[in-house]
Amino acid sequence: MKYLDELLGKNESLAWRGDLHVPVSGIEFDSRRVSRGSCYIAIRGFHQDGFAHVAAAIASGAIAVVSVHPPPKEDSPVTWVQVKNDRRALSAMANRFFDDPSRRLQVIGVTGTNGKTTTVSLIQALLGGSAHAAAIGTLGMNFAGNTRPTKLTTPEAPELFAFMAEALEAGCASLVMEVSSASLSLNRVEDIAFSQAVFTSFSGDHLDFHGTMENYFEAKLSLFRKLGSDHWAIINGDDPMGPLIIRELDCRYVTFGFSEQADIRPLKYGFSMEGVRAVLQTPRGKIEFQSPLLGRFNLLNIMAAASSALVRGIGTDQISTALAAFQPVRGRANIAHAGDFLVVVDYAHTDDALENLLKAFREIAHGKLILVFGAGGSRDRTKRPRMAQVACRYADQVVVTSDNPRQEDPQAIIADIVAGFAPGFSAYRTEPDRRAAIGLALDMAAKGDVVLIAGKGHEDYQIFKDRTIHFDDFEVVREKVGKRDA
Ligand SMILES: Nc1ncnc2c1ncn2[C@@H]1O[C@H](COP(=O)(O)OP(=O)(O)O)[C@@H](O)[C@H]1O
Ligand SMILES: [Mg+2]
Repeated sequence: MKYLDELLGKNESLAWRGDLHVPVSGIEFDSRRVSRGSCYIAIRGFHQDGFAHVAAAIASGAIAVVSVHPPPKEDSPVTWVQVKNDRRALSAMANRFFDDPSRRLQVIGVTGTNGKTTTVSLIQALLGGSAHAAAIGTLGMNFAGNTRPTKLTTPEAPELFAFMAEALEAGCASLVMEVSSASLSLNRVEDIAFSQAVFTSFSGDHLDFHGTMENYFEAKLSLFRKLGSDHWAIINGDDPMGPLIIRELDCRYVTFGFSEQADIRPLKYGFSMEGVRAVLQTPRGKIEFQSPLLGRFNLLNIMAAASSALVRGIGTDQISTALAAFQPVRGRANIAHAGDFLVVVDYAHTDDALENLLKAFREIAHGKLILVFGAGGSRDRTKRPRMAQVACRYADQVVVTSDNPRQEDPQAIIADIVAGFAPGFSAYRTEPDRRAAIGLALDMAAKGDVVLIAGKGHEDYQIFKDRTIHFDDFEVVREKVGKRDA
């Protein structure tokens, strides 16, 4: 049993009213999850202030309320604590509640604009699979065959620490996690002791949240600043931001990439419809492997993961064997149909990811590249014209459609994209209905072509202003190809 006073750090509380030495049964920031004995931490969110739900939390049995507001003047059956920083308090108190679990695990944080999910899954596999290494990210949290969904790529601190405690209990020695830049800005990973941080790539996504490129990069950088002298940074040496991160490091580091200077780099490599074959040069000797992952960017993800595993002491043979067995992550350069032509579903929803995807498939396609894509509504609008420019530069045929329109009018999003095409570009069609758009693209496909369906990847839903419907790119491809062949 933990007491409120042990959970509160020395300098965290500014003022309080009531008994601090009360037993706490859990740390909650969502009043709907509060039960008898919970400590409710009211967080100021983007849409609402958790303080508005204090009465509900108390009614559900909260024993203490922590917030940035001063305690009430009158007596109260619960204890009130005022803290300087609500999000910091949430992270610190949840960490103490679960006995600082990240210090008993080797925690590997993966950050970057693209490639996090794939790299996390790869590292987990190279470390011996989910019995040894737990994972947290866009695809959920999992260890030892146990999977549960997450709403956020990097969940809030209480969920993170609770999961770590469970993974430790199940015997995991490591945890590999996606660290989103939002989670860094919002103190979600503040109290996690990372032993490694991996930088995959950088580009201008999420500018709606961070405002400027500098803020966004600063957020990413803060993960690397947390590393001490006995920790490791794994850096994409091909990325222009690589040297800027290296400059800030107080820890050991290795670089990976195609460049001659990279510590881990391919001596030989080839890409085909079957995947990647390569021989990697590493400080521990060569790693020769064949992997079913498609495209050039996946060789970068493989190198990132191999670097991470190498500094954890995994042998080169174990790495080659695990790479050969590793299957594509759902919706990441994932084949949805292979026949006369290839249909690939991919989660690329930034200009950078889309460019890498198109370039990668240019290298392996014999025929035309036909691209189906859209852009999410109610999110960063600046990337729409950039995605359009990339599409018209690298694809032969484009079908502009809807992604998740959310609160916006699908036609307006499409218009933003079309306005970004190069003057004179006419090899495109627009079709707001994603099912019909996929049908159009498949009708255009001939032998040797590749149809790329980008943006939604593993998602099985589509979000509109007034409703969310079931929608799965893979299913639609099967349905349309089936009709065509019938
Ligand atoms: N190393 C990379 N560099 C650039 N783009 C990548 C890289 N790896 C994957 N991508 C692209 O980004 C998309 C998302 O990949 P994913 O592994 O889910 O990354 P994240 O979790 O960072 O969103 C992929 O579907 C692919 O199009
Ligand atoms: Mg992800």
